[in-house]
Amino acid sequence: MKKIAVFTSGGDAPGMNACVRAVVRTAIYKGLEVFGIMRGYNGMIQGDIVPMKSNSVSNIIQKGGTILKSARSKEFMTAEGRKKAYENLQKLGIEGLVAIGGDGTFRGAVEFYKEFGIPTVGCPGTIDNDLYGTDYTIGYDTAVNTALEAIDKIRDTADSHDRVFFIEVMGRDSGYIAIACGIAGGAEIVMVPEILMSTAEVAQILQAGWKRSKTSSIVIVAEGDEEGGAQEVADKIRQMMPNQFDIRVTTLGHIQRGGSPTARDRLLASRLGYAAVEGLLAGYKNVMAGIINDQVVYTPFEDTFQKVKPISQEMMELVKILSI
Ligand code: F6P
Repeated sequence: MKKIAVFTSGGDAPGMNACVRAVVRTAIYKGLEVFGIMRGYNGMIQGDIVPMKSNSVSNIIQKGGTILKSARSKEFMTAEGRKKAYENLQKLGIEGLVAIGGDGTFRGAVEFYKEFGIPTVGCPGTIDNDLYGTDYTIGYDTAVNTALEAIDKIRDTADSHDRVFFIEVMGRDSGYIAIACGIAGGAEIVMVPEILMSTAEVAQILQAGWKRSKTSSIVIVAEGDEEGGAQEVADKIRQMMPNQFDIRVTTLGHIQRGGSPTARDRLLASRLGYAAVEGLLAGYKNVMAGIINDQVVYTPFEDTFQKVKPISQEMMELVKILSI
């Protein structure tokens, strides 16, 4: 293999730049020619592919977002789009790909390999931490820290006004950000999509806490929770127990996707970017490089999105125990 390309795809995540840097520099170190594909699969289809040199990735390790830009490509879901993408790669002689993204990105790569035989090795780049085959995804740690900073501030005002705050954090189908922020932010309740908690149960926990002399409470709701987002849950509680609590709702939103990556994310991204290039050179295809128990492992793409990485029941228990 002489020529490879790297791209970022799906929702951006802090640390993607550090990963691009690691891929580019490792590839050059190993004597490969390396290209950057702009805007994920869209750039592949449009032929927006640029040569990367060592200094193309200078001064980006600390930057949020992605210099290669990102997109969720609808066109790549069509056979016609994938054919155009293949032709553009062929023109440049690109023989292998490093895809930095989440489950949608890897699903696309599997289809692409079936049709055109171009091998892809993935790096898990998503704040959601919802991929099987790695303890942590790139961007998760930064997102948790960003959300936590906001939660700490909300806690101050919740305490001053004796209020109950419902705070919504990101995680489309995943409660990983919620549970980490919940424990680290001392929340009374954490609601995650993986483990059902009814609104009645939330009401009962809040009431019990206030009976034990609490004067403010924080409820963290993952956006994908079965009972609805933070606003919906708060509305139900208001209806269920009118005038009992002074309730406010805050949705943290895309603030969680930006910002300079933490040291943990930069390290993870650097290790995984390196591992992805090593994997391609070793002949791996359709696998994601991840880190489990501090060891690099390669997991088939299908497993990364089909197998479940469960939220630990012990962590959920911890929220209850530590918030009495
Ligand atoms: O997958 C990352 C994520 O931030 C999810 O937590 C969230 O549901 C989604 O992306 C939001 O996507 P978009 O930025 O396209 O609205």
